[in-house]
Amino acid sequence: MTSLPADLNPQKIPHHIAVIMDGNGRWATSRGLPRIAGHRQGASTLKKLLRCCKDWGIKALTAYAFSTENWQRPIEEVDFLMHLFERLLRRELAQMHQEGVRISFIGDLSGLPPSLQTEMEHSMKQTLNNQAIHFTIAVNYGSRHEITKACRQLAQLVQQGKLDAATINESLVEKYLHTGETPAPDLLIRTSGEMRLSNFLLWQMAYTEMYFTDILWPDFDTEAFHQALLSYQKRDRRFGQVKTFLSA
Ligand code: IPE
Ligand code: IPE
Ligand code: MG
Repeated sequence: MTSLPADLNPQKIPHHIAVIMDGNGRWATSRGLPRIAGHRQGASTLKKLLRCCKDWGIKALTAYAFSTENWQRPIEEVDFLMHLFERLLRRELAQMHQEGVRISFIGDLSGLPPSLQTEMEHSMKQTLNNQAIHFTIAVNYGSRHEITKACRQLAQLVQQGKLDAATINESLVEKYLHTGETPAPDLLIRTSGEMRLSNFLLWQMAYTEMYFTDILWPDFDTEAFHQALLSYQKRDRRFGQVKTFLSA
């Protein structure tokens, strides 16, 4: 177990961290390896980060593993990723459950291979009541798809006479997103130098602090994470208010 570095304030630890795990392909290519080698290494980075989050008192971690746009990659890479997700889930579930990890998957899971869907449903059910950390993995996830689906569901309720359109408010819309009632991320980390959201949690990250680093995902270690948290703790989260009122 790694303890919280002394220069981090335990009172200001983010509750929920989101990560865009980017740069696996470049990590592998720069070593003369096939892209899939980067994904394999990236999975190990995620496993270590999850453990570190748990040790440092972070209550929720959401990782972007596969976007709705990633289907446009070469079929061999997509197939490898789907098999990797399934293999990892089979291999790691018992240990995660034992450590009190609650696992959730978000995204359009119905578009995934049936055997993967079965593993996902099983892991979500088995770990539902675990309390140590909430670990969410976004697979076949796209924010625009998620928001569009929520609109369609609400429109159907109105059409069926079960909902008055005038009562639709932000918290109701939120309930129909994949993230349900999970609080929004406090901090987003994106690796590999790209500074964009790539269709990740667009609604949920309205007030999330963003941290971008040039480090490629497979190299994102505990020290890199420590640096991200140091940067976060220096931020002044105003939420549109005036600072003096917030601290008064
Ligand atoms: C992120 O790494 C992992 C997935 C999108 C599945 P990339 O595969 O995007 O790596 P780069 O950006 O090509 O280096
Ligand atoms: C975002 O990375 C998706 C994941 C990390 C799963 P991409 O590599 O797909 O994003 P773009 O194409 O650089 O925007
Ligand atoms: Mg990428």
